Amino acid sequence: MSALVATAEVRRLRAELAEVAAGRAFLLQAGDCSESFDEFTAPAVRNKLKVILQMAVLLTYGSGLPVVKVGRIAGQFAKPRSSPTEDIGGICLPAFRGHMVNGDAPDAQSRTPDPRRLLGAYHQSAATLALLGSFAHGGFADLSQVHSWNLEFVASSKEGRRYNRIANEIDRSLRFMAACGIDLDSEETLHKVDFYTSHEALILHYEEALTRMNSADGLWYGQSAHMLWAGERSRRLDGSHIEFLSGIANPVGVKVGPSIKPGELVRLCERLDPKRQPGRLTLIARMGADKVRDVLPPLLQAIAGEGFPVVWACDPMHANTFLSDGGRKTRRFDDIVREIEGFFSAHGEAGTFPGGVHLELTGDNVTECLGGLDEIGEDRLHVRYTTTCDPRLNARQAIELAFLVSELLQS
Ligand code: PEP
Ligand code: CO
Repeated sequence: MSALVATAEVRRLRAELAEVAAGRAFLLQAGDCSESFDEFTAPAVRNKLKVILQMAVLLTYGSGLPVVKVGRIAGQFAKPRSSPTEDIGGICLPAFRGHMVNGDAPDAQSRTPDPRRLLGAYHQSAATLALLGSFAHGGFADLSQVHSWNLEFVASSKEGRRYNRIANEIDRSLRFMAACGIDLDSEETLHKVDFYTSHEALILHYEEALTRMNSADGLWYGQSAHMLWAGERSRRLDGSHIEFLSGIANPVGVKVGPSIKPGELVRLCERLDPKRQPGRLTLIARMGADKVRDVLPPLLQAIAGEGFPVVWACDPMHANTFLSDGGRKTRRFDDIVREIEGFFSAHGEAGTFPGGVHLELTGDNVTECLGGLDEIGEDRLHVRYTTTCDPRLNARQAIELAFLVSELLQS
């Protein structure tokens, strides 16, 4: 199997994350909870990219900071589960573990793990990377296309119109610069974007098969994605996942939930970033809207006190999930906003930089998270609930959130 990403790109992402760690850039990491073998189409990939580019424009426009764009995409096919089984309609079935392992349909045959799925994940990742590359470098991501990233069902909303006003201003600025005699055509950064990929490094047999030593620097690189992370359930200090991540030179992430103590987090950082390299380590806090303000400040202080130049990102999704009355997993838009606000305020208190957000979203018009300007209620969750795992923000909710985060960054 050939490697999926180039080491030069991996190193470039690490350099960009070093800028985030220094407070000079912002990280936007986003995509599906769990990519699907069944819903893989070019328009779906393009729409996801559109939303992320749109959010990045809003964040950059509002904050004046460059935005490092990393998708949960092209490899996010394996899911850790809290329970090995689940009860569906009174029948006990093996839990769905992501399309790299088994199927999501609620029957015993689908839920049986099939190793051929590892190859399916590899090939779909390769195809997704090819699509992303052609979109990111082939004119689609040109800043002059800023209007066309507004998906139809977003454009007709209040936030879509607000986005269009900013897009108009960007157009005007571009015309102004051209009129001043600046040669915009030759300005490469206006015509393409750097878009990176990431996923949870959960299935180590897969990850190891795509790990290579780079002959130029003698270091090992995980080449299934630019960035890999360990989840809240797989980040044990003496576990195999942290052992794997400690041996590769990629930028790596660790999810940290509310039960972690400062001492344990410091030991994790020692393990993963002993040389204290800026951009190497991203800590992805997923504390819950009610806990983040209490739990996060002592962690921020401990890590800063030990001199780890980490990126701190906020995952406002995973500790705010609950089952609706109809039995569907969901999240409230308001809780997501509250957790991000708490994250920013904890950084304000600790004097550290709120480096980014880590989100589950899609470019499709789904009804999986509650609230937002559309006020999706529990009675509407069933309308377009298509996720194979956790509930995602739809594109309108994502744009609404980008406006809010951009306001927080400005203040
Ligand atoms: C996820 O990112 O989909 C996930 C399972 O997160 P966590 O490890 O934070 O629970
Ligand atoms: Co998830």
